[in-house]
Amino acid sequence: MGAQTSHRYFVTGGAGYIGSHTVLALLRDGHDVTIFDNFSNASRDVIDRLGALAGKAPVLIEGDIRDEAALTSALTAQKYRAVLHFAGLKSVAESVEKPQLYHEVNVGGTEILLRAMEKGGCKAIVFSSSATVYGTHGVSPIDESCSLDPINPYGQSKADCEVLLENNCQNDAEFSAAILRYFNPVGADKSAKIGEMPKGTPANLMPLILEAATGEREKLAIFGNDYDTPDGTGVRDYIHVSDLAAGHTAALPYIEAHPGAHKINLGTGRGYSVIEMIQTFQAVNDVPIPYSIEARRPGDLGEVVANPNYARELLDWQANLGLEDMCRDAWAWKKSIVKSSS
Ligand code: NAD
Ligand code: UFG
Repeated sequence: MGAQTSHRYFVTGGAGYIGSHTVLALLRDGHDVTIFDNFSNASRDVIDRLGALAGKAPVLIEGDIRDEAALTSALTAQKYRAVLHFAGLKSVAESVEKPQLYHEVNVGGTEILLRAMEKGGCKAIVFSSSATVYGTHGVSPIDESCSLDPINPYGQSKADCEVLLENNCQNDAEFSAAILRYFNPVGADKSAKIGEMPKGTPANLMPLILEAATGEREKLAIFGNDYDTPDGTGVRDYIHVSDLAAGHTAALPYIEAHPGAHKINLGTGRGYSVIEMIQTFQAVNDVPIPYSIEARRPGDLGEVVANPNYARELLDWQANLGLEDMCRDAWAWKKSIVKSSS
């Protein structure tokens, strides 16, 4: 169903994994979208694919969020209803090697974006935060009142951005921010035309399952089967990326009407173990996933699941797609990229 009123949104990182699915949802709702992306972790094809899928093309501005002149020029040339800020670096391992870079891009980039928004008179932002800000509390399901305790430079950069956004809201009574703490996004649009393109060797479970499914990887290493979980393997709150995108479109009308900083978990509230992921993937797609049990990965928790109640109350949003949809859509996307690169 289309939106009743069409608005213009500015989406940093809109060519990336979560950004592209959110842009698609916005375009399908009849909105106008400008994507600002430097393509450091995305393909230029995504822009045409989004136009073809939605029947309406996004505007593209190629640029880096550290370039204040470019962002200011973009945000003052047009009036935007809100900014959705996805652009940033997201690898935990890389952040440990290059903490300065993560601070510069994620925190510095957000500071620059906020200054450019002020010049352009835009007073609403949706920000990509992460469940990683909660760190190692070990409380599960976890709700938004839990204190933050990030354990790596990536998580610290997200926590620092949350503070910047809260300060902005305190200093300007008209400013609003939806700080969305994502749990574990997986899957792809059901068209299989857009999806996740991990750079280099993936670190997350679903991209690694996909490599084991194609044979690019001999087998999946399961990191530990001695956690205090039903089958001993790690439990996470996997959420279909299209549900996550819908969480953003639900947050927009809310923040447009409610100034202030709103910290919101986006998860399903249901956890699945690594073994359950593998079994579901095999059953839905009829592909074997060879695996072996290995040692625990340092820093991992047994279970990380969202309490999603606040999002339901505040945004009238909840995830609808299940693990079978996530596994089926991820595999359809993977097969499409393997085919197009062969
Ligand atoms: P992604 O890498 O697919 O998308 C990020 C996009 O930003 C890419 O298109 C990239 O080219 C662009 N970008 C990166 N640096 C830029 C810069 N300096 N200037 C302009 N554009 C730049 O990542 P994603 O999975 O879509 O994640 C989006 C956001 O959500 C990130 O901020 C990430 O930290 C956060 N997040 C992701 C996950 C996850 O598991 N994918 C979980 C929690 C939070
Ligand atoms: N796992 C394996 N083998 C692998 C990879 C992962 O068994 O090869 C297990 C992990 O031990 C964990 C589960 O699969 O139990 C999920 O692991 P991911 O790496 O996919 O996800 P995490 O929850 O550990 O971390 C992810 C992102 C972080 C983010 C965090 C919270 O990688 O950046 O979610 O949102 F901070």
